[in-house]
Amino acid sequence: MPILYHKGLFILQTDATAYTFGLNQARLLAHSYWGRRLPYADDYPAPANPGAWGPFNNPAHLTPEEYPGYEDMKYIDPCLKCTFADGVRDVSPRFESFEADAETLRIHLRDEHYPLRVTLHYRLIPQYDLIERWATLTNLGDVPITLERVFSAQWHLPVGDRYRLTHLHGRWFDEMHIERTPLARGLTVLESRRLTSSHHHYPWFALDAGSADEESGAVWFGLLDWSGNWKIAAEVTDYASTRVNIGINDWDFAWQLGAGESFETPPTLAGFSAAGFGAASRALHNYVRDHILPHSDVPHKVFYNSWEATLFDVEFETQAELATHAADLGAEMFMIDDGWYKGRFSQTTGLGDWTPDERKFPGGLERLIKHVNDLGMDFGLWLEPEMVNPDSDLYRAHPDWVIHYPTRERRLGRDALHLNLARADVQDHLIESLDHLLRSYNIRYAKWDMNRNVSEPGWPDAPGEPRELWVRYVQGLYRVWHTLREKHPQVIWQSCSGGGGRTDLAMLRYSDVIWISDNSHAARRLSIQEGFSLIFPAAAMQTWVTDQGAEIPLRFRFHAAMCGMLGIGADIRKWDTQQSDEARTLIAQYKDLRPLIQFGDLYRLRPADQSGFTALQYMSKDQSTGVLFAFCTYIPQHEPSLTLRVRGLRPDHLYTIEGFEGMRSGTAWMNLDLQFGLYGGLGTFGSTIRRIAQVEKKHHV
Ligand code: DGJ
Repeated sequence: MPILYHKGLFILQTDATAYTFGLNQARLLAHSYWGRRLPYADDYPAPANPGAWGPFNNPAHLTPEEYPGYEDMKYIDPCLKCTFADGVRDVSPRFESFEADAETLRIHLRDEHYPLRVTLHYRLIPQYDLIERWATLTNLGDVPITLERVFSAQWHLPVGDRYRLTHLHGRWFDEMHIERTPLARGLTVLESRRLTSSHHHYPWFALDAGSADEESGAVWFGLLDWSGNWKIAAEVTDYASTRVNIGINDWDFAWQLGAGESFETPPTLAGFSAAGFGAASRALHNYVRDHILPHSDVPHKVFYNSWEATLFDVEFETQAELATHAADLGAEMFMIDDGWYKGRFSQTTGLGDWTPDERKFPGGLERLIKHVNDLGMDFGLWLEPEMVNPDSDLYRAHPDWVIHYPTRERRLGRDALHLNLARADVQDHLIESLDHLLRSYNIRYAKWDMNRNVSEPGWPDAPGEPRELWVRYVQGLYRVWHTLREKHPQVIWQSCSGGGGRTDLAMLRYSDVIWISDNSHAARRLSIQEGFSLIFPAAAMQTWVTDQGAEIPLRFRFHAAMCGMLGIGADIRKWDTQQSDEARTLIAQYKDLRPLIQFGDLYRLRPADQSGFTALQYMSKDQSTGVLFAFCTYIPQHEPSLTLRVRGLRPDHLYTIEGFEGMRSGTAWMNLDLQFGLYGGLGTFGSTIRRIAQVEKKHHV
């Protein structure tokens, strides 16, 4: 039974982990355990009953509450802050009742005085060792309540104040650096205030005692299932308590909760791994693949995207020529990027007018799509639905549809303004125009781009509280995308925001892949891919071979891109016969390996950016076949060759590994130091792909 209520303790158990809490003597809902699953219900600790600390901190300050409100002599970072109609800004959610079934638990709390109900939701995902949490706030009274902070949850770590935080940070063209830093006392805040999850920090965290690695050690991790402003506030108190608040950012946030209304936070998903960062990532990968991605069982087609070859210079002849080359190399999908729609001759015009440009495509896209389909490929198209150029028919007709303050300059970002998707009329317009486009043409793939962040976040015509924009925009975005998905289920979407500027779990409910960076220089790209892999599976990672870093051997560039869902973006008209032949061979090899990469388990064998080498391995779920990628990105000083141990084999089965003598048991291979002569043999930017194959079911000694 995954959820137990035992002697006043709520015990939430996944296959290998457990999470417990209960009411303490002060009737506060207090956390008591998160870690390995224990054999008996009596094994789990009861919640603590801390006293006060002098006259300055009441017991509530010392209690690890599941969902603390702003009240009492308690100065920890709360989950909930609001103002009641009479001006009272103190909120005291207290336990009222609970409802549970096998895998969900709802705890109802209610303010001691005001008609505000707080429902805490817990959903167990046992086979992935994950727990999902969110909160619903309901106004049971007849006057509005102003919500000023409503986090999804507070996650508590075992008592202690010496944790290490792992998180991702970056910027445009330089996303997803992995940073590991001791968690200092006080608050550490990671956030976005950009109306999108952003290139700068990612709504994900991992905490460990400082010594966990890929294979071992306890790791607690979590993320937010949301694509707008978000906040992670990790707090280490002076009482050795470490906790993580996670939710919609309270920066500039306010929500008017009318009589009888409810507000639901986005979910946060979290887990505990007793076997390091590798197992933590695989738990998320499995869950995302099995339950989040819209087309999780369809092999991703190798695509060609013409953006870097032709930029805005898109018209029938050049695109048809590129399509012919792409098909010859083995591409299965051809897409045109920016530049195809009305008036789009540079980045200053046309955004918002989603009809083909008559001068570039007389009579529409039909002829090009037929050419692409006749070559045996699917056709894909680029869109940037959330933006508008001032020089566009849409803006001329509806200047009030953008996010703005009437008294302020409307600042341009990449020459565009931001449509206000919080408005229902804007949502309806996008649904109608994009639905029309998808109905008019045989479009099987669509790239949804977003190339600026918000400024002047005003909503002059807001029917209520204008600061609801931050949330209503994201809800509007989801409504548009969801409706288009419902109407056109065959379309595979790619989410892009100037590369990886909107890399979050919620995006993967709508798009199957994320375009993780505009930087496709293969060496830097390997570390961006590694950062992405901490959270998301290769199945959701769009990679491509372009002309960036053209000094790097084509084979290396392909090998790096083959670690994800492969695409090509180079100007392939300029490739000579030898390059085209090499690309053709590598694409064919990729198609053969694709099931392992898309559906297999990832093992990060050697981190990128260390010692000039990096390596990773994918194993099929049944552990019978695998593939290992190894790279040398620059000449290292201290290691003449790369030494690795493979992972994920069945100990007693026999395997071969390409390039190495012998047929050995999984145990033997996993304990042998394998040498890869990338430095001596292949030099800088050496790379190799090795197949791992099971040859016999059992190893008989
Ligand atoms: C930014 C994207 O990241 C690129 O791949 C490309 O689609 C351009 N936008 C087009 O404007």
